[in-house]
Amino acid sequence: MRITMLHLTIHHIGYLVKKINKAVNEFERLGYSAVSDIIYDDFRKIHICFMEKDGYRIELVSPADSASVVAGLLKKYKNSPYHICYETPAFDADLKSLAEEGFTAIDTPTPAPALSGRRVVFLMNRFLGMIELLETATVSKNQ
Ligand code: NI
Repeated sequence: MRITMLHLTIHHIGYLVKKINKAVNEFERLGYSAVSDIIYDDFRKIHICFMEKDGYRIELVSPADSASVVAGLLKKYKNSPYHICYETPAFDADLKSLAEEGFTAIDTPTPAPALSGRRVVFLMNRFLGMIELLETATVSKNQ
């Protein structure tokens, strides 16, 4: 069965890194530019930095301590890309559709400090692995 009526555009590729400062430096050497500061997400216990190159956006994610939700992922995957984030102006409707079509939410929608408090949720699919869903910024939240 096909998923219909989704509103997804790619926002970023999430990239696990062990040492975020060093990773930023290395990506800069490859021609990426940081487009955010290194931001601390207290809820997820991670440091995040967005970088861009050639119209592509990556999100460096580094666990701040072993209690972080991504500490286990880093141990398993090492420094590597680990999710694609899809932005949608119809966050609740798309989340519902995805949940009905084989994507299982692995957390609850939570505001992301690194993205102006826009809600994000992670979902797992047995054939794709993990994706992230991000709510499109509204005018008021953008300010
Ligand atoms: Ni992400």
